[in-house]
Amino acid sequence: MTGSAADADGLRAYPTADGSFSLESERFGEAFHSSAGALNEARAKFSRPAELDRWQRDDRLRILDVCVGLGYNTAVILNELPDVAPAVQWWGLELDRRPLQLALEQPTFRALWKPGVLQRLEAIQVNDGWNDLTNIGRQLWGDARTMLAKIPEQQRFDLILQDAFSPQRCPELWTEEFLTDISARLAPGGRLLTYTRSAAVRASLQRAGLQLHSLLPAPGERIGWSSGTMAVKPGGPCAAEGPGWRPLSPMEREHLFTRAAVPFRDPDGIASSSEILRRRVLEQQACGLEPTNTWKRRWRGDAAVQAR
Ligand SMILES: C[S@@+](CC[C@H](N)C(=O)[O-])C[C@H]1O[C@@H](n2cnc3c(N)ncnc32)[C@H](O)[C@@H]1O
Repeated sequence: MTGSAADADGLRAYPTADGSFSLESERFGEAFHSSAGALNEARAKFSRPAELDRWQRDDRLRILDVCVGLGYNTAVILNELPDVAPAVQWWGLELDRRPLQLALEQPTFRALWKPGVLQRLEAIQVNDGWNDLTNIGRQLWGDARTMLAKIPEQQRFDLILQDAFSPQRCPELWTEEFLTDISARLAPGGRLLTYTRSAAVRASLQRAGLQLHSLLPAPGERIGWSSGTMAVKPGGPCAAEGPGWRPLSPMEREHLFTRAAVPFRDPDGIASSSEILRRRVLEQQACGLEPTNTWKRRWRGDAAVQAR
């Protein structure tokens, strides 16, 4: 696949700022990664705030990758584990087999990973996962809303990597219901990591009992008032500030009381994105919360300060 070619069903390769291979989707009208680059983003939003050095040889690291795509988030995490790594229990949710397949056809993508990590990615593609002694990986292909229920009820996760397309493009994976369901899968002290700073998503995660933190930008990313969210299940250690995160600023806390915080809803787990967006607009019109533009105007000029 070249930089200008699109395949039959609208996945197009594009160069990212750090030179790593990525795609954009015609169907969702969005790129898979930010302009900072796929690799930079996977590190800043997922592996760095995961604090992987918390896991040692005899531990068990349980990961749920929501929207595996090209596999960057999982690959970065596996790649950065020490050579004497913990046992890994991995589950992946993804609708489309092609992004990972297209990535694995790229020599530049393959060259990024240790041989053992590349083997895992290939196993996801070819065998829907792996199973060797203490390490298991299970890829579930299909709509994440329904496939989540196929993960055994008792399975809990230390890390959930939530990397769906943005809430306006793929609201079905940012609803109150879906976020409640994945949050329930976190182990005590478990971390849900995502690039989004959406107030609707944050408010849903907070109602699901998680504690919110703000992610710091990836190298090369435009500095704004936040670069994502880490939501932590109480019951395990997590400092207010750490590698790649800080507490929510006053500006961000106020954001949670504006119309932007009205959640996306999908009570039956089968609504289309347009139904979910329509329902939310109606709820926003009736909600009586502060208009988001008023909040924006109040904080104009302070965003750079808040982002520090
Ligand atoms: C932003 S991309 C994920 C990027 C990926 N994490 C990576 O590192 O390359 C979003 C992914 O969500 C998938 N997707 C969209 N709707 C979905 C759904 N309802 N269930 C599962 N996956 C979905 C798309 O096929 C796409 O691969």
